[in-house]
Amino acid sequence: MSWQPEADLQEVLLTEAQIKTRVAEMARQITRDYDGRQLLLIGILKGAVMFLADLVRELGVKASIDFIAVSSYGSSTKSSGAVRILKDLDSSIDGKDVLVVEDIVDTGLTLQYLVNTLKARKPRSLKMAALLDKPSRRKVDVNVDYLGFQIPDKFVVGYGLDFNEDYRHLPYVAVLKPELYREVD
Ligand code: IMP
Ligand code: MG
Repeated sequence: MSWQPEADLQEVLLTEAQIKTRVAEMARQITRDYDGRQLLLIGILKGAVMFLADLVRELGVKASIDFIAVSSYGSSTKSSGAVRILKDLDSSIDGKDVLVVEDIVDTGLTLQYLVNTLKARKPRSLKMAALLDKPSRRKVDVNVDYLGFQIPDKFVVGYGLDFNEDYRHLPYVAVLKPELYREVD
């Protein structure tokens, strides 16, 4: 029998249709804001892959893509706050209009670190897009220019987001059953 992800999930928070509609809206706004310019999208691996792939296909401006990987939660569900680059960008961002694309802003530590690191590389402009936001967990103030959805403080998977590298390929965002993980603070 095929895999039944529903058995591991508490509830679906955002359906495939809701995500598709919102991503298209975000793309329209970005298209307006960057009219006539060329955009470099930087996806944060691996969680932002689905969001970036859908977003870039809805854009009406010239765009290129690159990826960066930073250390993440590992197998736990809480951020340690320590961030380091695991895979850097392929090319220079000097003088470019850069949009960082992230799956979710939780404590904000990942995005804060990336903003500071990328700013030092002298892009022409630097903005942030995130599909999801858990504002109640914020530890540092970060400015997200394009935000998909605010969600409650629950651990979610799907549409790029994982738990122990599983569930990324689900086409929707769902709350994982808490009994499947033990929170590590
Ligand atoms: P921050 O540095 O605490 O903002 O964490 C951001 C990163 O933590 C995201 O890019 C995700 O990889 C991961 N993360 C935060 N919350 C969740 C969640 O609910 N599910 C899966 N990954 C999450
Ligand atoms: Mg991530």
